[in-house]
Amino acid sequence: MAKRVRKAIFPVGGMGTRFLPATKAMPKEMLPVVDRPLIQYAVDEARAAGIEQFIFVTGRGKSAIEDHFDHSVELEALLRDRDKDDALADLRETLLPPGDIAYVRQQEPLGLGHAVWCARHLVGDEPFAVLLADDLIMADTPCLKQMTDVFEETGGNVVAAMEVPDDQTSRYGIIDAGGATGDVRPVEGLVEKPAAGTAPSNLAVIGRYILMPEVFTELERQETGAGGEIQLTDAMARLIDRQAFHGLAFEGERFDCGDKLGFLEANIAFALSRDDLGPGTRDMIARLSKAFA
Ligand code: UTP
Repeated sequence: MAKRVRKAIFPVGGMGTRFLPATKAMPKEMLPVVDRPLIQYAVDEARAAGIEQFIFVTGRGKSAIEDHFDHSVELEALLRDRDKDDALADLRETLLPPGDIAYVRQQEPLGLGHAVWCARHLVGDEPFAVLLADDLIMADTPCLKQMTDVFEETGGNVVAAMEVPDDQTSRYGIIDAGGATGDVRPVEGLVEKPAAGTAPSNLAVIGRYILMPEVFTELERQETGAGGEIQLTDAMARLIDRQAFHGLAFEGERFDCGDKLGFLEANIAFALSRDDLGPGTRDMIARLSKAFA
């Protein structure tokens, strides 16, 4: 079995109900943070981690994503005619080599586990990554690269994890690390959205995973879990006793862009971190804070 992670799945089949009406006709993953859509950040992160094959699990109304990663012949011609070289270069960066990108359709949004299972034939029998574009991560070393570095040491499954406050554990998949400390912790158990007060720890799984192909066999059962959805966490939990399984407390700042406040926070943070927009954004925040105090 290949030791390197070459393939990544991008599940983009969700309904994005928390962002309606913005997501009525546009996929959530196309919402822009500053000047690029969420899905572009996820693809760039995967490229930086050495991913070579990009598998999108799409649903109805997601064709804007396919267009985004394709040539826009008219737009490119127009920019060339007008000598807008910088904009042209930005546009070219969205392209992936021909044949490296594949789309498979999740006909019904039955859950993240189901979305991942829909990509089983394209992944085959090798380790693979899953990136949820609505989890946007700002980090010096891209989060998935941090994870592939760990994978090369440990093998097996690697999930990105972060500490969350007690009152938020019921929103996440929570890791039981048996009291282990450090950045890389062996996972002894996993619980999806534990009821308040029952979480085994404060260590939450976020939207980055390196998984072994055996998870597809577990997903094949099509069992529903929390929220009546086919949960990826439940399938992963069944592999813990059989395979190496680690949680990486990654270095970086994660923004939950599936949530309005998290999305706004991401926009502000990414603008502040840029040389061209940082100073203007700082002034704007100071002015608006006074105006709406
Ligand atoms: P979310 O739990 O954020 O669901 O999915 P959602 O439908 O996208 O958004 P809300 O909660 O209705 O606002 C987490 C990730 O899993 C994908 C989503 O696209 C998102 O990246 N997903 C979820 C699927 O691809 N298919 C599904 O059936 C469910």
